[in-house]
Amino acid sequence: MRVILFGATGMIGRGVLRECLLDDRISAVLAVGRSPTGVTHAKLREVRHDLLDLSGLEGELGGYDACFFCLGVSSAGMREEDYRRVTFDLTLSVARTLARLSPGSTFVYVSGAGADAHGRAMWARVKGETEVALLVLPLKGFMFRPGYIQPMYGVTSRTRLYRAVYVVTRPMFPMLRRLFGGAMTTTEQVGKAMITVAERGAPKRILGPADINSL
Ligand SMILES: NC(=O)c1ccc[n+]([C@@H]2O[C@H](COP(=O)([O-])OP(=O)(O)OC[C@H]3O[C@@H](n4cnc5c(N)ncnc54)[C@H](OP(=O)(O)O)[C@@H]3O)[C@@H](O)[C@H]2O)c1
Repeated sequence: MRVILFGATGMIGRGVLRECLLDDRISAVLAVGRSPTGVTHAKLREVRHDLLDLSGLEGELGGYDACFFCLGVSSAGMREEDYRRVTFDLTLSVARTLARLSPGSTFVYVSGAGADAHGRAMWARVKGETEVALLVLPLKGFMFRPGYIQPMYGVTSRTRLYRAVYVVTRPMFPMLRRLFGGAMTTTEQVGKAMITVAERGAPKRILGPADINSL
């Protein structure tokens, strides 16, 4: 399969990129973003572009089987309109373009546990609205709501606060997994699950940590 990866420089995207490069089911990865991944691999090609304006990029995006959309921002300290511009507008602009260029292809969106279009929290509402809008497009859309994600194999978050949290939780992860395994996943499991969803779909369109781990 040939896949497009958005957010390949982030914590989840780096984990997904690693799994794609290791997995024989993936023959080519196109990483699209504003920053270089720093990774060199025969299967990987990168395109850098301002994603708030996709004009000039469309020629690169056709002919792929799946898109793994791992791009996103933390809502902490953000005004709703700024958070919405990246979370909803940018995501839908990419997805609508792919729906036109490759209708029926797979689109996996990294949402978040608690996403709810009618929720009270701003981030949950915007993520929920994004999911709803994605699910009506002519794509095989799958919403990943991973909950807590443990970064693996040297992958780190772009967010300083999260990096600090992971330093503290890393030694406790095996114990936490035994206690709360159903609510947790890893960057490795998220990456492998995305590839499996692209290959053969999934029993449901909205997938929590336990669904992701079972895939
Ligand atoms: N981390 C978790 O535990 C967790 C759990 C559940 C859900 N999520 C969701 O998963 C998504 C990714 O999380 P993460 O932890 O991987 O985040 P991260 O480490 O902060 O990485 C974010 C990625 O998005 C890209 N990005 C952000 N804004 C962009 C913009 N305007 N234009 C182009 N690229 C942009 C970043 O690119 P640059 O390198 O260029 O900045 C980076 O590749 C987010 O939506 C988050 O809410 C995360």
